[in-house]
Amino acid sequence: MTTMPEKTSVMPRHIAIIMDGNGRWAHTRLLPRYLGHREGVKAVRRIVEACRNRGIEVLTLFAFSSENWRRPSEEVGWLMELFIRTLKNEVEELHGNGVRIRFIGDRSAFPADLREQIARAEVRTRSNDMMDLVIAANYGGHWDISQACRTLARRVASGELAAEDITAGMIGAELSLTDLPEPDLFIRTGGEQRISNFLLWQLAYTELYFTDILWPSFDEKALDEALRSYASRQRRFGRTGDQVEQLKGA
Ligand code: FPP
Repeated sequence: MTTMPEKTSVMPRHIAIIMDGNGRWAHTRLLPRYLGHREGVKAVRRIVEACRNRGIEVLTLFAFSSENWRRPSEEVGWLMELFIRTLKNEVEELHGNGVRIRFIGDRSAFPADLREQIARAEVRTRSNDMMDLVIAANYGGHWDISQACRTLARRVASGELAAEDITAGMIGAELSLTDLPEPDLFIRTGGEQRISNFLLWQLAYTELYFTDILWPSFDEKALDEALRSYASRQRRFGRTGDQVEQLKGA
């Protein structure tokens, strides 16, 4: 997770998305917010399929942050229902398309029926290898780093590890997504230009892309625009531009 790739490709291996703007999409159409979230699920379906067709290996979607509990309880309730319904409706098709589903975040706070659907989705799709779909739910970058620190602290307390020997690599190894390629491209829809406690550690060298398009309107064309922007960038990982060009030729 913390090793830097020596070479990069014009196509990202891993895309991470903050799907923002469902509420505003609904508001501008004089619709209730939950219809914006429902339309957001259609965009999820479109983008999962588009990424799979483009050979993206990992797609990570921020579905519910650890701060989203602060929303009105009615909206939190709709979102929980929508997640349950979406999992029930979509998992078989995702499975048929070879998609492996995984959830990251503290699932202990979710209602029992949602936890059950999450576990079922993960078990049903665990042997698939066409694409990894990671859903960040009750996830926060601070939570992720804290849980990694707790694990390492336990090892120090047991005498197995000396505090002085802790490295960035060891912290990275305890984080969510440690077994997957690091995100190459981060996309946030909806016009805000923030990371909002998403994958804080994992985004260290990720290319950031922001668009004003509201999530329910994000389509293949918009995805291709983000991919074009990514392909035009030079990823240096701390090196000089000349060094990167030399590596490309090597
Ligand atoms: C942010 O828009 C969106 C969310 C907090 C929920 C996103 C969830 C989905 C699209 C459903 C995905 C479902 C699965 C199972 C992957 P917002 O409400 O903050 O919009 P606003 O900024 O316009 O108010």
